[in-house]
Amino acid sequence: MNLLNIKNLKMQFGGLVAVDDFNLELEEGKIFGLIGPNGSGKTTVFNIITGFYKPTDGHIFLNGKEITGLTPDRITVLGLTRIFQNSRIFRNLTVFDNVMIGDHLRLKSSPLEAVMRTPRYSREEKEAYQRAMDLLEGLGLIEYVNEISGSLPYGLQRKLEVARALSTQPKVLLLDEPATGLSTEETQEMIDFILGVREDFDLTIFIIEHHMAVIMDICEHILVLNYGKTIAAGNPKQIQNNKEVIVAYLGAS
Ligand SMILES: Nc1ncnc2c1ncn2[C@@H]1O[C@H](COP(=O)(O)OP(=O)(O)OP(=O)(O)O)[C@@H](O)[C@H]1O
Ligand SMILES: [Mg+2]
Repeated sequence: MNLLNIKNLKMQFGGLVAVDDFNLELEEGKIFGLIGPNGSGKTTVFNIITGFYKPTDGHIFLNGKEITGLTPDRITVLGLTRIFQNSRIFRNLTVFDNVMIGDHLRLKSSPLEAVMRTPRYSREEKEAYQRAMDLLEGLGLIEYVNEISGSLPYGLQRKLEVARALSTQPKVLLLDEPATGLSTEETQEMIDFILGVREDFDLTIFIIEHHMAVIMDICEHILVLNYGKTIAAGNPKQIQNNKEVIVAYLGAS
């Protein structure tokens, strides 16, 4: 079954068509890659899917339900979330608090119930605490639970970012360049980490990445953008041998 369906997506900024007629059928449990030169529209596709931008045209369906134009919070609650190209963890908060913030999107109690500490709020709070601890344990981050997030090595900050996304209990996870800025060793760890969470959390993953090693290693299917247009789609081998892709990356010759 396709968990995420995108039809004829278009995004225009003034005279610039940043994304043109983008289509996607993301099958449940798969890892899809999105690549392309700088400024080719990759992050814009993510911004539209997650509700940060309203598309000029086109439709997005999550699990059969249209989500086009819904707010980011609403889309997260429906089971789709992301990590950002530029780290958005709260650097001054602990690892634990960063994860709790994601989890709280799902609590049912109102802010008033929180202030009054009603039984429902107390119960939800206790459950959220346990979920956060279990999540950090499962992801191998528990030893950092009380560390200030900004003091962690960058590789761990990126993992924390994924942890925070997972705390919203997504079905579909969008990763915008999770390995950019990481060392060779951290990159390999990130690859294993992503493959691990896909298994453990039954996720369907859509990933943007500049590291070809990452993309070719973990993606079952890859789409290539150039100036907002999809110039190729296929498995890693097909993409590596695609002339148009090679030209887009290396320049015409
Ligand atoms: N809010 C916006 N307003 C105007 N133009 C925008 C906006 N967001 C993106 N763009 C433009 O759309 C094009 C695509 O940008 P986008 O960030 O999607 O590229 P990208 O493929 O993610 O690039 P990179 O690899 O550098 O991250 C660029 O020309 C960019 O300047
Ligand atoms: Mg980008």
